[in-house]
Amino acid sequence: MLSVVQGGGRSARPTGVASDEPAWIAPWWKLLGRRYGHVFHSMCSYMGSYPPGLPRYFIEQFSDVGDVVLDPFSGRGTTALEACVAGRVGIGVDLNPLAALLTDVKVAPPSYEQTILRIAELERSYVPAPVGDRAPPEIRMLFEETTTLPQLLHMKEQLDASDGVDRFLLASLAGILHGHHTRDVVSSRCLSVSMPNTFSMSPGYLEKYIRTKGLARPPFNAFEKLRLRMAHEFAEGTPARRGRGLRADARQLTKHIPEGSVKLIVTSPPYLNVVRYGKFNWIRLWLLGESVSDVDASLQVEKTDRRLALSDRHRFRGYCGFLRDALTECSRVLRDDGVCVVTIGDVINKEHGSRTLATEAWEAVRDDVPLDLAAVIVDDVNEVGKVSKIWGEGRRGEATKTDRVLVLHKRGTRAPKPRHADPLALIERIASGAVEAPAPPRPGVVRTAERPAARVRAAR
Ligand SMILES: C[S@@+](CC[C@H](N)C(=O)[O-])C[C@H]1O[C@@H](n2cnc3c(N)ncnc32)[C@H](O)[C@@H]1O
Repeated sequence: MLSVVQGGGRSARPTGVASDEPAWIAPWWKLLGRRYGHVFHSMCSYMGSYPPGLPRYFIEQFSDVGDVVLDPFSGRGTTALEACVAGRVGIGVDLNPLAALLTDVKVAPPSYEQTILRIAELERSYVPAPVGDRAPPEIRMLFEETTTLPQLLHMKEQLDASDGVDRFLLASLAGILHGHHTRDVVSSRCLSVSMPNTFSMSPGYLEKYIRTKGLARPPFNAFEKLRLRMAHEFAEGTPARRGRGLRADARQLTKHIPEGSVKLIVTSPPYLNVVRYGKFNWIRLWLLGESVSDVDASLQVEKTDRRLALSDRHRFRGYCGFLRDALTECSRVLRDDGVCVVTIGDVINKEHGSRTLATEAWEAVRDDVPLDLAAVIVDDVNEVGKVSKIWGEGRRGEATKTDRVLVLHKRGTRAPKPRHADPLALIERIASGAVEAPAPPRPGVVRTAERPAARVRAAR
C-alpha cells in the first residue's frame, strides 16, 4: 500500500509533488498516515501535536542508533518517544507540566506488572468517603460522586509525582479523565460525563452543556478503567531505549543539556502563542495539582484572538524574538554535524489571507541565529486526504492547512546528508517495523537502489 507514489527516480514524491530537488526533500512521512506510531502516543490527547511519522522520518534520515534526539517544545512527547522507539536517546523539554509529564513517562516507563501492582495497592488502601470540599464544584459536576470521584480523589491524593510508576499512572489517568461515552456507556474509556477528550471546555460552558443536554454521570470504577488502560498501553511493549522529559524553557536549554551533545532536533514551536495550553487543559491540570493561570503565564500566552495574530506587527516581532532565542539555544546544544528540523504552520486570517509564517519568521531571524537553512519541506495537509483516498480509507483532503518544515544545520558546516537515498524504501521499512541501522557499504560494492516508480508499477 505504501508504494502508491507518483513520479519516479530522484523526483519521486508522495502524491506527485513535482520537484527537481533531491528525493528526501518531500513530506514522505505522510505515507505512514495518522495511525502509525507506538500506542503510548495516544496516552493523552494534546493540542498541536504532529503525527509520529514526521519526527520518525527525520530520526531515520539524520541520526544513528544511540544518538541524542531532542524536542525543545515537546508537547505530548512525539519526537522523544519516536526517538526511543528507534533506539535513540529521546529528550523532550516543555514548560507545560502536563507536556513534561507525558513526555517523561513515555520515554521512561515502568513495567506493566509494576503499574498493576500499584493499582491493586491503591484499591486496597481506598476507603469510600464523601467528596465534601476535597473537590471544587466545577470538578464535582463532571464525575459521579459516590464511586468515581472519591476513587479519583484517593488516587490524586496518594500518587506521588516524583515516583516513576505513580507518574505513569497520573499521566494515564489524565488521558482517561474526560471524553465521549461509547454507545453502551459501560465500555467508555473515560471517567467523566460525556464530553470532548481533546480539550476542556470552560467550566461555565460545561455547566450549561451538562444542564441543557441532561448529561448523566455514570458510576465508573476508576481503578478498573485505569487497569484496563494499562493492558492497552503495554500491549506493544515498551520503547527500545530510555530518555528524559524535562519541565524547562526552550530558551534556556543549556541549563539542562550539555552543549554540542545533540545530533538531531525535531520540533514545532507554539504558533504566535495562540493556544492557551493551561486554559484548555484545566481538568487535567487540576488532577496534577497545577495552576492554570501559572501555566499560561509561564507560556506567555496572550489573551488575543487567533484572527488578530498577524495583523499585529508587534506580535510578529515578539514571536521572532522568541524563535531567535530558542533557535540560538538549539544551535548551542547541537553537535557540529547536527541537524535542526523546525515545523511551523501557515497562518490563515481573513484580513491577510494565507501567510507562510515559517519562512517569514526565518527571514526575520536568520542573521541573528548561527544556523543555515538546508531545505524547506512543504507539507500540505490536503495531500494527506489525497493519499488516504488512494489507499481507500475514504478520507478527503478538506483541511487547508499547510505546514512548512525548515531543515537547518550549524552555520558554516556542510549541509546535512540523509542516511537513506531511497525515502520510499525507508518509509516501507518504518511501516513494517523493520528499521535498523544500515550496514556500512562494503568496499567495491555499489548498491543500485530500486527505483520507487518501478516498485509502484509492480504494485499495481
Ligand atoms: C505546537 S506544541 C508542540 C507539540 C509537539 N510537537 C507534539 O507533537 O506534541 C508547542 C509546545 O511548546 C510548549 N512551549 C511554549 N513555550 C515554551 C517555552 N518557552 N519553552 C518550552 N516549551 C514551550 C507548549 O507548552 C507546547 O507544548
